[in-house]
Amino acid sequence: MTATTGADTAARGALGNGASGGDGQWVVPLSDLRVDSEIERAAAEVVRSGWWSMGPRVAEFEREFGALCGSKHAFAVANGTAAIHLALLAIGCGPGDEVLVPSLNFVAAANTITHTGATPVFCDVVGPDDLTVDPADIEAAIGPRTRAILVMHYGGHSCRMDEIGVLAERHGLALIEDAAHAPGGKFRGRSCGAMGDIGCFSFFSNKNLPVGEGGAVVTDDDALAEKVRLFRSHGMTTLTWDRHRGHASSYDVVLQGFNYRLDELRAAIGLVELGRLEERNRARGNIVGRYREALHGVRGITMPFAPREDVLSSHHLAVIVLPVDRPREEFQAAMKSHGIQTSVHYPPIHTFSAYRDQAQRSLPATDALAPRLVTLPLYPHMTDASVSAVTDAVLASL
Ligand SMILES: Cc1ncc(COP(=O)(O)O)c(C=O)c1O
Repeated sequence: MTATTGADTAARGALGNGASGGDGQWVVPLSDLRVDSEIERAAAEVVRSGWWSMGPRVAEFEREFGALCGSKHAFAVANGTAAIHLALLAIGCGPGDEVLVPSLNFVAAANTITHTGATPVFCDVVGPDDLTVDPADIEAAIGPRTRAILVMHYGGHSCRMDEIGVLAERHGLALIEDAAHAPGGKFRGRSCGAMGDIGCFSFFSNKNLPVGEGGAVVTDDDALAEKVRLFRSHGMTTLTWDRHRGHASSYDVVLQGFNYRLDELRAAIGLVELGRLEERNRARGNIVGRYREALHGVRGITMPFAPREDVLSSHHLAVIVLPVDRPREEFQAAMKSHGIQTSVHYPPIHTFSAYRDQAQRSLPATDALAPRLVTLPLYPHMTDASVSAVTDAVLASL
């Protein structure tokens, strides 16, 4: 290891030496990237290779990521939002269609649905112990225009995919998984992202498999795979890399696609990160376990997603539910005064200006829970001192 980012000052023994927050110098940041010589070497090799856009390292990353998920096809793409957009385009989603999606979610899902011309229909979550979408509410929201269900494995914990899969099949709906939080996550032995028709991942810097900006689409379906391949690169039938190698000399354009390609630099970093994913997910799980031990059930705090035999979480997020009588802004301000960065996953999409005016369904669990959710720092190399700094600050901030 040659370096780490400088954000985690508790890890360097500076706890108590003037917690600040707000200027980028947190005692414990929300997430932290570890940079080492293997990452630097992988990036330098690409730089020296003289081929920086999509090429052999992307292909290798796709093979390895597909193997991780147990999927026949894997496509590396520019980011997780592009992955969702491609999945929606591949299933043929368009004007007049409705797509069922949890409101307690990142806005990428709703925006991409809207960009296809379809309408997002927001669904509720199960409750304080399980922040994934409620299968019963999905069933209630299915109507004549429903085209697809777009679930999200919140925080790396699988949704109730057995029940949701049955609903999708019974009603002839496409099932898309937003597994942005869940590379390496499983439900009853099946990989998150590979349980429905098509799965989407994000490799943004704060994700479990960080490359900067990046994502992936996985599927077992040959027809969907062909659509994703074409939409990813302008609907062109050959790639620049094929032409560079002399494997093709020309191309046709068979649909109106996008440039959603990943480049070699990010794929090279992704290959290194892939080799570390399982160990790092486990390290995240241990830290969440320590949080749970110190905080669950203490002074009205709870933590969703109690460990389950049939769920292997990727532990992307450490989320607590505040007591009803503790205003979140005050709590977060108190945490900041201790130098602890916190976040909120998520302000529900149906409360944003861009979506507020659309006809809404009632989402009682989301509306009750969302104002009480706080995300605590979590990254695989968090030290015991950092974890204790966070739990001490939580208790002091109540
Ligand atoms: C649940 C979820 N879906 C989709 C995305 C979009 O991924 P990206 O930022 O790589 O476009 C994110 C990223 O934050 C996310 O958390």
